[in-house]
Amino acid sequence: MQANLHLHHAKSVAKRFRTGISLHSHTCYSKETLGFVYRYAKDSGLLNWAIRRGERQFEARKGRKLDFAKAWWTPPVAPRDAWELEASQIREYGLDPIVSITDHDTITANLSLTEMPGFEDTAISLEWTVPYRGTFFHLGIHNLPKDRAAAWMQDLAACTANPLESTIGALLAELASLPGTLNIFNHPCWDEKNIGGSTHQNAVLDFIAAYGKWLHAVELNGLRPWKENRDVLALSRETGIPLISGGDRHGMEPNTVLNFTNAKSFSEFAAEVRDGHSEVALLPTYGHAFRLRILRDLQDILSDRPSHGMGWTRWEQRVFWENHLGEVQSLAQIFPEKTPIPVQVFVSAVAALRKPVFSGLVNHLWGQDDQVGLEPASVAMPVAAAEAARAA
Ligand SMILES: [Fe+2]
Repeated sequence: MQANLHLHHAKSVAKRFRTGISLHSHTCYSKETLGFVYRYAKDSGLLNWAIRRGERQFEARKGRKLDFAKAWWTPPVAPRDAWELEASQIREYGLDPIVSITDHDTITANLSLTEMPGFEDTAISLEWTVPYRGTFFHLGIHNLPKDRAAAWMQDLAACTANPLESTIGALLAELASLPGTLNIFNHPCWDEKNIGGSTHQNAVLDFIAAYGKWLHAVELNGLRPWKENRDVLALSRETGIPLISGGDRHGMEPNTVLNFTNAKSFSEFAAEVRDGHSEVALLPTYGHAFRLRILRDLQDILSDRPSHGMGWTRWEQRVFWENHLGEVQSLAQIFPEKTPIPVQVFVSAVAALRKPVFSGLVNHLWGQDDQVGLEPASVAMPVAAAEAARAA
């Protein structure tokens, strides 16, 4: 049994397979914190200035601080559009598509897809938030049984709200006992909570020691830098848990990593992965400068989408804030006339960076940092040691 990583020539590798699997992507049902915007803005003087000015203006006017923990944005695609975005790319590789959408802690998008003619077999999946020892992890839970998916969602949400370690183990064990499901440790080496590299690493190793036997794969993430993904390769080797792809698409650029397989259904694919066999392909788009790809996502988030499947055509309709009275309003509702000047400056600056000359500059400045490289180009990672690691 082995997991194979194809770093180059995804098109020619694809010829050996029947199906492309898109794992891990988001729709307008995902709530995303504004931390993403903040992290990006920190590196840009103009964007940082616009945000700080907006914060000061809000405080002066309202007499209290802007609480960004209570603000969120939603990705710019509705479920059907999200599915098509992924499926179209897979078809370009000459493969039949299987798309498993994973919104944060909700299966609403997938349930709505299963109601549409032709989409009845859509995998019901989610990205489950698991608080753990001062931080949190994201697990891709794929292909829940349709007739019990709503009950499963309730149990998983209850555990997120009250994350007893015994409950986490019991749920993962039961999920793993179901045929056709996959439990994936998404972007395991990302210290998303910012608790410090070694503290995060220890938490990851503790988590795998406790629950690794019910984790079917660790994720090579298409929206994380190569430097971090190399650590995931090492984690896969050391623990014997197979590697799998997860694109983590949030904007309009389809997943930059896929799994290739000859399976005809998600359940067949899951059986292969559970046997330790996974064919991960990095697409050429993964090789673009990481900062440029994050910037493109930001541009997609802050762009109008006349064809938005939910009718949220303006970007201001897709950004929300819960006020001090607990009322949720979109930015379009809060500012029906026009958004404040610092917000306009921020949005204009992001849009201006869409010009090819800026993209070229970003790629030139940072492309080298983000170079994907590993020799030899196709690496076989034996997972025979899995049993020992999992038994530990
Ligand atoms: Fe995600």
